[in-house]
Amino acid sequence: MSDAVLMQLLRILADGNYHSGEELGERLSMSRTAVWKQLKKLPELGVELQSGRGQGYCLPGGLELFQRERLLKEAEPWQGDLQLELVLDSTNAQLMTRSANVKSGTVCIAEQQTAGRGRRGRAWVSPFGQNIYLSMLWQFEGGASSLEGLSLAVGVCVAEVLEGLGLNGVTLKWPNDVLVDQRKLAGVLLEMTGDPAGVCQVVVGVGVNWRMPIGAAQNIDQPWVDVSHLAEEQGVSGVSRNAVAGRLIAALSSMLTEFSSVGFSGFRQRWLSRAAFVGRSVAVSTAKETSSGVLLGVDEAGALLLDVAGGVQRYYGGEVSLRSAE
Ligand code: BTN
Repeated sequence: MSDAVLMQLLRILADGNYHSGEELGERLSMSRTAVWKQLKKLPELGVELQSGRGQGYCLPGGLELFQRERLLKEAEPWQGDLQLELVLDSTNAQLMTRSANVKSGTVCIAEQQTAGRGRRGRAWVSPFGQNIYLSMLWQFEGGASSLEGLSLAVGVCVAEVLEGLGLNGVTLKWPNDVLVDQRKLAGVLLEMTGDPAGVCQVVVGVGVNWRMPIGAAQNIDQPWVDVSHLAEEQGVSGVSRNAVAGRLIAALSSMLTEFSSVGFSGFRQRWLSRAAFVGRSVAVSTAKETSSGVLLGVDEAGALLLDVAGGVQRYYGGEVSLRSAE
């Protein structure tokens, strides 16, 4: 049975109401046994299925699945290729593997990732249908040196889209963690391929916690928050997963166009105005050592500036992590 049938079933159940086995069979043109086989796949995807005697089946709270047409509309004026997938290993991995054959601006979105990638080799918890997992491939002509500060600019872009929903208190922890009250709301992972001294492709991966199921959250090893809870806390209504994913596509493509011509300079102030921990004591760890000092901000290349006894230390990214030392 194909993904298409499962998708049809999910679209019917997405309204959060009860649907009887008979109704599902009729709408999917299949026997009730075949429907049951499809329904059994939902818990395997991590989707909570409720059944009530005499009532049928429902997905408590419903689901807002991605819809190609809505995504394309919200992403305007972006007009690239959209790969919309149900389940795959990682949207970043997908574009990295196909980097030689896809056009600059191509986007891959999935309802679920089975091997979502986070920074510093960590996994990114990616349950089905609840969050946003999105990657965009972009071609740069000037090699790795033209990418200085890009990962921070992506953070700015994601923060601005989330603020556009009406969410308050969105901050950026160097280089690009998107936080609210020190809880992670979204993460960014950049991967590069091609010629480091010439034409290269960057895959910009963005994960937004939208409505993290409690079961899945048990695998997250840092404080986190999701858009649904924040929206409730802050009295923001009417947020749509399709709208935000579409706006992210539009914002990323416009940011990448601007970055290709002006670099990080157009984004530095926007990053600093949302920076977490500036002027405060932090600890910065590399593979070799941990240094403590006061966070000064970032320079024109996006490097982190740390005031330590004896001078200012610069960190350029890679395997570096930062945490509050207060
Ligand atoms: C982080 O550790 O903060 C970075 C998380 C990045 C997650 C996103 S989800 C879409 C894209 N595909 C991946 O496998 N990772 C990124």
